[in-house]
Amino acid sequence: MPIVTTTEMFEKAYKGGYAIGAFNVNNMEIVQGITEAAAEVNSPLILQVSAGARKYAKHVYLTKLMEAAVEDTGLPIALHLDHGADFEICKSCVDGGFTSVMIDGSSRSFEDNIAVTRQVVEYAHDHGVVVEGELGRLEGVEDDVVVSAEDSSYTRPEDVQEFVERTGVDSLAIAIGTSHGAYKFKPGTKPQLRFDILEEVARRLPGFPIVLHGASSVIPKYVDIINANGGKLVDAIGVPEDMLRKAASMAVCKINIDSDLRLAMTAGIRQHFSEHPEHFDPRQYLTVGRDYIRELVKDKIVNVLGSDGKA
Ligand code: G3H
Ligand code: 13P
Ligand code: ZN
Repeated sequence: MPIVTTTEMFEKAYKGGYAIGAFNVNNMEIVQGITEAAAEVNSPLILQVSAGARKYAKHVYLTKLMEAAVEDTGLPIALHLDHGADFEICKSCVDGGFTSVMIDGSSRSFEDNIAVTRQVVEYAHDHGVVVEGELGRLEGVEDDVVVSAEDSSYTRPEDVQEFVERTGVDSLAIAIGTSHGAYKFKPGTKPQLRFDILEEVARRLPGFPIVLHGASSVIPKYVDIINANGGKLVDAIGVPEDMLRKAASMAVCKINIDSDLRLAMTAGIRQHFSEHPEHFDPRQYLTVGRDYIRELVKDKIVNVLGSDGKA
């Protein structure tokens, strides 16, 4: 099975009422933990790389790691650029072997967002690569960009229809109340997502795949392990899993997960060091970090995304 685009994955996911996990990768252990889990339960996958990941590990190392994972597992895996800021970074990822790129024009005006997204779509489609756009602003932190609650805004379904028709984009990230990072909802408030927006988008654009960013659940088990072993994560709150299941049964075909991977890996490594303070071989603690990622991703695929058995 070669590296694939997301077109067929999304068609099947939309019809089947499940979603594909898009997991952020930054190093070998993360790639291996994710792909070993997907192989165990026979799930398609999207591995995605942010600008921060490219800065940390270099494009060539990340693509070679992901190509190795495809060869090792034989799974349908799409290589995706997460939050591409402009045409140039999208072009370099299209040229560099990715099968999917995201152009994130959500901080631009509606017309500028359409213009840059259209430009990326034209280049990417000429090269057999699919494009994800973004409309509406999610609260939270990506790289060094912080979007405050005041500057975030829900996406309007009528704008989605116009945006998709004018750009030719293949999928779209919209804002329905999720946010990036480990602190998504105010303590003491009930997490809520705007499912009415999803419903209206599906009514206007039947079959069109929607992407949910900021979709980590900030699983209490991992937060507790971190805090029990010297960490200090106060009031970390994520998206409840039942809401993700509901979104996956609707128009959401791609669910982005990064913070949960970070928490799981950190929990494993912190736990390891409190049990073995004498260890200093990175293979010892990174093995545990990788095991924690594998356990997390398997649970996500089987119990939240529903993409097991769909490879
Ligand atoms: O959307 C943000 C992702 O979690 C990537 O995070 O930009 O720190 O790599 P990063
Ligand atoms: P989380 O911070 O909720 O994991 O979201 C990740 C994301 O949306 C990557 O694009
Ligand atoms: Zn995101």
